[in-house]
Amino acid sequence: MAILLIRQDGKTSQWLNAFKSQASQIECFDYNEPHPKETITMALVWKQPHGLFEQYKNLKCVASMGAGVDFIFEDPSFHQELLMTRVVDPLLITDMEEFVTAQVYAYMKGLYQYHSQQSLSLWQQNPYLRKKDITIGIMGMGVLGSATAKALSVQGFNVLGWSNSKKQIEGITTYEKVDLNLFLEKTNVLVCLLPLTPDTNGILNESLFSKLPRGAYLIHVARGPHLVGEDLIQSIDKGQMCGAAIDVFPTEPLDTKSPFWGHSKIHITPHCASISSPESVVAQIVVNYNRLTSHQPLLNQVDTLKGY
Ligand code: GLV
Repeated sequence: MAILLIRQDGKTSQWLNAFKSQASQIECFDYNEPHPKETITMALVWKQPHGLFEQYKNLKCVASMGAGVDFIFEDPSFHQELLMTRVVDPLLITDMEEFVTAQVYAYMKGLYQYHSQQSLSLWQQNPYLRKKDITIGIMGMGVLGSATAKALSVQGFNVLGWSNSKKQIEGITTYEKVDLNLFLEKTNVLVCLLPLTPDTNGILNESLFSKLPRGAYLIHVARGPHLVGEDLIQSIDKGQMCGAAIDVFPTEPLDTKSPFWGHSKIHITPHCASISSPESVVAQIVVNYNRLTSHQPLLNQVDTLKGY
């Protein structure tokens, strides 16, 4: 029995080292190196090339290296008999809380605008917002969304949460699926932390933006295909949205020709809101691998019918 590491970008050495130092008894292979296919029972993947899973007849579980699993569902060689797990990791959670909080403050205090003024040697004080001036609405109240909502609420922000099924979280006003419009009309900083599913693909579009109060701001840290890019640009150019911080794109790296790069009100980061730390994540993969080997239920298993 062994684990196979598959990443399209080939960055597996840190992961292999983490296995070596934390669980040297477990056999691990990089899929680019020769390996005995029949020994593989678990695949640990991040944006894997499609079509590989069917080559492994004894494969039982596909584990994501991160919180998201959309790229596993997109692979036609993933089938319903395989188990799927995702990462729920304290570092991934605090990194996301900190990143979203940083983007909220950068927006409130106009820090991106001062950055552009610096390039013009322009000394100019601009109006800024205080906590009482904004309501942050978080779409997606899973592990990352709920933790981020709590972290912002503890700091004194007014926070709303929207999710498929209603969640009870102290200090947060929550809305369920059918109440999307009620949630949107009260939100002026919209944070997207939804899982990517057929239901949420393209959800950040012109119609949704038009339901937010005029001049709302978007912080998008979920998955590229949630957002219809042209709709965002049009909504910003019409003044319905005042700008956006975007960390995720349908194709990454973002094409150098994308109109997002040159837009003064769109602030781009390279999918860095919360990056899995191999040292931290490998510990839970080892636990799950041992559970798999001893036929116990896995931790952080994804409901492959629900899609998250
Ligand atoms: C990052 O995008 C993750 O899914 O962990």
